[in-house]
Amino acid sequence: MRIALGADHAGFEYKDRIAQSLRDRGHDVLDFGTHDATPVDYPQYGFAVGEAVATGQADRGIVVCGSSLGIAIAANKVPGVRCAPVAEPYSVELARRHNDANVIAFSERLTGWEMIERMLEVYLTTPFDGGRHAYRVEQLFEFGDAQRARTIKDLERGEVTGAQTPKELFSAS
Ligand code: RB5
Repeated sequence: MRIALGADHAGFEYKDRIAQSLRDRGHDVLDFGTHDATPVDYPQYGFAVGEAVATGQADRGIVVCGSSLGIAIAANKVPGVRCAPVAEPYSVELARRHNDANVIAFSERLTGWEMIERMLEVYLTTPFDGGRHAYRVEQLFEFGDAQRARTIKDLERGEVTGAQTPKELFSAS
């Protein structure tokens, strides 16, 4: 796979180690930086990786910041991106199987390197389950004016309506 990488000054060391690990596994790496500890703004790196994935320049993305949170929020601003901030392998598996996560966010300050390696393996090898999950993932990208109007009506009524997956999609997966 071709994998886009980005990190701020609090994540570049892991980002560089991840780049090496990906190359060792035979993947292509698109490294958007940063490359040293000079303070930089994590949103720009989240946007860059997100755009690379959304435009098809990369198959997947990995972003790293101090906490994993800010850079994940930034990546998720790019339409088409499904970025999950993760700290252990089971969340990574579910992010792939249920959410078809195409970007994953790691924390350099809170997560040990051995855990990163385990999560990386799961991220690279776990497929998307599709079926009912695809039906739901599609809805993530319906959030525009029409969906917003519908949600506002739901708020007025005090309940969410029409949120049930068709039954046949359960037997298919
Ligand atoms: C940088 O100090 C830190 O705020 C950043 O790496 C990240 O954790 C933001 O969410």
